[in-house]
Amino acid sequence: MLNPWNFFVFVLFIICGPLGSNQVEVHVCDTTNSNNSFIYCNGPILDAVNYHSLYNDSKEFVDMPLKDDPQIVYNAWRAKYGNQSSANLNKSDVQAFVNQYFSAAGTELVVCTPDDWQEKPPKLATIADPKLREWAYKLNGIWKQLCRKIDPAIEQHTSRYSLLYVPNSFIVPGGRFREFYYWDAYWIIKGLIASDMYNTTRSMIRNLASMVDKYGFVPNGGRVYYLQRSQPPFLAAMVYELYEATNDKAFVAELLPTLLKELNFWNEKRMTDVQMNGKSFKVYQYKTASNVPRPESYRVDTQNSAKLANGADQQQFYQDLASAAESGWDFSTRWFSDYKTLTSIETTKVLPVDLNGLLCWNMDIMEYLYEQIGDTKNSQIFRNKRADFRDTVQNVFYNRTDGTWYDYNLRTQSHNPRFYTSTAVPLFTNCYNTLNTGKSQKVFDYMDKMGVFTYPGGIPTSMSQESDQQWDFPNGWSPNNHMIIEGLRKSANPEMQDKGFLIASKWVMGNFRVFYETGHMWEKYNVIGSYPQPGSGGEYDVQDGFGWSNGAILDLLLTYNDRLFVPENFVNTTVTPSVESTTKSAPKYAKLPWVLVFAFMIRQLFNY
Ligand SMILES: *[C@@H]1O[C@H](CO)[C@@H](O)[C@H](O)[C@H]1NC(C)=O
Ligand SMILES: *[C@@H]1O[C@H](CO)[C@@H](O)[C@H](O)[C@H]1NC(C)=O
Ligand SMILES: *[C@@H]1O[C@H](CO)[C@@H](O)[C@H](O)[C@H]1NC(C)=O
Ligand SMILES: *[C@@H]1O[C@H](CO)[C@@H](O)[C@H](O)[C@H]1NC(C)=O
Ligand SMILES: *[C@@H]1O[C@H](CO)[C@@H](O)[C@H](O)[C@H]1NC(C)=O
Ligand SMILES: *[C@@H]1O[C@H](CO)[C@@H](O)[C@H](O)[C@H]1NC(C)=O
Ligand SMILES: *[C@@H]1O[C@H](CO)[C@@H](O)[C@H](O)[C@H]1NC(C)=O
Repeated sequence: MLNPWNFFVFVLFIICGPLGSNQVEVHVCDTTNSNNSFIYCNGPILDAVNYHSLYNDSKEFVDMPLKDDPQIVYNAWRAKYGNQSSANLNKSDVQAFVNQYFSAAGTELVVCTPDDWQEKPPKLATIADPKLREWAYKLNGIWKQLCRKIDPAIEQHTSRYSLLYVPNSFIVPGGRFREFYYWDAYWIIKGLIASDMYNTTRSMIRNLASMVDKYGFVPNGGRVYYLQRSQPPFLAAMVYELYEATNDKAFVAELLPTLLKELNFWNEKRMTDVQMNGKSFKVYQYKTASNVPRPESYRVDTQNSAKLANGADQQQFYQDLASAAESGWDFSTRWFSDYKTLTSIETTKVLPVDLNGLLCWNMDIMEYLYEQIGDTKNSQIFRNKRADFRDTVQNVFYNRTDGTWYDYNLRTQSHNPRFYTSTAVPLFTNCYNTLNTGKSQKVFDYMDKMGVFTYPGGIPTSMSQESDQQWDFPNGWSPNNHMIIEGLRKSANPEMQDKGFLIASKWVMGNFRVFYETGHMWEKYNVIGSYPQPGSGGEYDVQDGFGWSNGAILDLLLTYNDRLFVPENFVNTTVTPSVESTTKSAPKYAKLPWVLVFAFMIRQLFNY
């Protein structure tokens, strides 16, 4: 059914014709999957709120529950303002309208204590260093602050919420990320498993599975405005990690049909052909179906599109922005044709090495899980698929000259040889012949040559200093650092395993120090300088909490439970930092004896 606003846009479109655009607008949510798209995904209220900058972060408004049914609120707006453009409205009137008809953002989610939470999880008790063990217990304590549950009554009244209903409690990343997120959940789950929280892990996996059953894929996050895009596919990996920890075959059998369905989404909606050396290969790419501003970033998206050159394809621009958001890397010079400016974004022209490495892992995991439940037929099918696809990844993404994997650009028909942490994802997902122990060495040597190991706080996302994007230098992110460490650790090369440990020491000690200096775990870290800090850049303030950072650290503390030690006088841990308030700006603190850390790490290395 056509709501009045869609009808209005439709009529406008007919009257005015294709004003520089030649495709129909594809909204991020529509009447087939939500009853409130004209409030949260498009329409005059969303536009007015953003036009008048009622909130610094556009996400605030689209997370506010309605106090009445969407059609009633919409009609009230029309009765008051007719079809006046946002520019003709008065800011305080718009604010008064929002106050009258909307509740505060996030109030539909309630804080919970996970039923399997315990103060001192047995696995964390095995951490040898008392300071690190104490820290691990504190991080374990943060799960209670990040646990959320949706009031079951909401399931009956979904149209008043942008929130996607899920039945079980779950752990959120934190800060503005107040609902579930897809790829974040993998590292959260690594941390939950380290904290012996298998029930919460199962609950989170079942929530994501319920999304696949309902929508055919896992949306980026738990809101209607994420219904046209996914995120890096880690659901199978979550099931795998839980199975390795619990040996729960019944759970695997329950989830396998859902995992299959999710893989079909990537095969049917995100696959493309590429010709190389006279051969054709089928590979995956990020390509969301929407071509309008992202509601949660409506203001910045429209502001940025205003900077496009005359005649540029605005709808293509919006699709490339949303596709970069689907990659999890929003934003990075990796997606920009000039490696500097956001307006040159061309995500849909890039074949991403990390996504393909991940799908390769998905096939490997499917083979393994089917085998575990005794389904040799399906296991064999996936063994063959994975073997073929591993060849595809080598052919399309591996660069023999440089000894590493690169994104492939369809426009330039060449590899992008700049360093991005995504280079190591095929290593992490074992998407190569692991008998070839020289391969991990080559990837390491490439990264070494690019100078990425010279920073005290970990590995930066790229070496690109020409932009202020958050998935670039000097920010290091937990998932990327964790995947590089794990890629080296899981290689069959002892020398590379030791390198993995060294990087882990840097990442863990950097996070440790910032935690005791600021009282928080952060979504990203600035890895340069004489000491690390919370990261910066991008389109919103750095967020604390923080799900995947906590998870990656807990996993590493456990992996290296008898090898990691805090040097003397590293940071004063006497003060128990507050973990409640949100610090928005990077605080200042004294310089650190990093030389001690390095000396210590070298000692560690030769001890083992
Ligand atoms: C929208 O509302 C109608 C009637 O209230 C309901 O039948 C339908 O399931 C709803 N659709 C969605 C996607 O919530
Ligand atoms: C919004 O941003 C402005 C400028 O950065 C700042 O002064 C103001 O305090 C912010 N408002 C809120 C509510 O965060
Ligand atoms: C807005 O509505 C009025 C009547 O309610 C109409 O005369 C006018 O043409 C409309 N404007 C647009 C841009 O559709
Ligand atoms: C906006 O409307 C309010 C009352 O509705 C009025 O007091 C105020 O002067 C108006 N502001 C502008 C800039 O017109
Ligand atoms: C985990 O869930 C099971 C089944 O729902 C329940 O019986 C058990 O008590 C839970 N364990 C904990 C530690 O809460
Ligand atoms: C491999 O990398 C080198 C150097 O970075 C580059 O010149 C070459 O074109 C790349 N190979 C392919 C197939 O893109
Ligand atoms: C650590 O901080 C506490 C509390 O502020 C202080 O009493 C103590 O002297 C500090 N220790 C060192 C070694 O600086």
